[in-house]
Amino acid sequence: MRVLSVIFPLTFVISTLAIPHPTDKRDIARTDDVILFDAPAFQSPTDPSVTIVSQQALVYARQIDTAPLTSVLKNVFNVFGLGDELATAVDRLKLFAAVGLSGKEMQIAVQGCSTPMTLPKTSGLPDLGLVASNVSVGKCTTAARLTTTLQASFQDSSFTSTVFPSGPDGFGVISDIDDTVKISNVLQTIPALKAALFESPTAVAGMPELYASLAKSLNSPQFIYVSGSPMQFYPFLHDFINTQFSASAGPIITKNLTIADISGLVNLLTDKSDTLNYKVGIIDQIHGMYPGKKFLTVGDSTQSDPEVYATAFKKYGNFIQCIWIHKVDGADNSDTRFATAFKDVPSTKFRIYTDADIAGLANIDVAGGKC
Ligand SMILES: *[C@@H]1O[C@H](CO)[C@@H](O)[C@H](O)[C@H]1NC(C)=O
Ligand SMILES: *[C@@H]1O[C@H](CO)[C@@H](O)[C@H](O)[C@H]1NC(C)=O
Repeated sequence: MRVLSVIFPLTFVISTLAIPHPTDKRDIARTDDVILFDAPAFQSPTDPSVTIVSQQALVYARQIDTAPLTSVLKNVFNVFGLGDELATAVDRLKLFAAVGLSGKEMQIAVQGCSTPMTLPKTSGLPDLGLVASNVSVGKCTTAARLTTTLQASFQDSSFTSTVFPSGPDGFGVISDIDDTVKISNVLQTIPALKAALFESPTAVAGMPELYASLAKSLNSPQFIYVSGSPMQFYPFLHDFINTQFSASAGPIITKNLTIADISGLVNLLTDKSDTLNYKVGIIDQIHGMYPGKKFLTVGDSTQSDPEVYATAFKKYGNFIQCIWIHKVDGADNSDTRFATAFKDVPSTKFRIYTDADIAGLANIDVAGGKC
């Protein structure tokens, strides 16, 4: 989430980009680009033999004008005395300059399922180019991962993603990304800028091993990464999770911020409760999909994770099986903060851990009810 505050200097670039007229084209054309977000899937509440995918997609014009972005990044780099890893930064931020396309219809084949996913058309403003929908894909094989393919109307482009189906019971893990599994240094401006803009992402030491161990001890839980970062960082975060956390890969939920959301972006930078409400809203959706599962929730003390997970526990009880909070140096780690956040949460339901504790977390019998 805090990645937003480090891109604050870029806000004005985004606000200078023209908002295009929505198009009414129906198909994915050669000139379009698509992000199919990896998606969770769940059993239909009315027919257990049917799988429903909670799919999100973004369609945008392939040609992205990065010139304004590049010139502003140059200034930002000068102001902060950074080096000239400009190309990487422009590439990482280029989706902020992308122009979403409305009215696009997609039919996506899902390997191993009887029915293709037919998504509603992508939206006009304010969610330009986005679509998010629960879609039935009929009966599927029991594979843990299903590959989707969207064939564009031209032979030469196709897009793929992964669907992660999971049954109605058993365990899941909801995890934050920045400073929980990835070193983002969100509380220090220069290191945070470097991490967000051009450095190769680094995992928090011990976390890939811990999640790989949970993947076994919790018997292939549904991992869902809930990040406060805007969706423009999705390709970057997706690469990171799928290379460094491949044993615990899962859908990554990001904020669906489009270029029409300028006022929203400014609010996000200043209003902590927005992340709280946003993340609780995502957990509401996860609860809707998997009301019979139990989730281990993992986050950190830099922003609102203690408050988010405690709020979810108060709403849903043992659906939130356990809350683990990474204590990050420099964050508000005061007793008062945690006492307030966890006021009505039994002390057996949460744990605040330091870097030194990470190696030992795998020994906690979460499947057996410990936390
Ligand atoms: C985008 O997010 C807003 C606010 O959370 C929500 O109301 C809207 O339905 C979302 N749109 C899509 C396409 O996901
Ligand atoms: C999909 O369905 C689940 C379960 O009913 C619900 O919680 C979630 O909000 C739905 N998502 C969308 C995008 O409609």
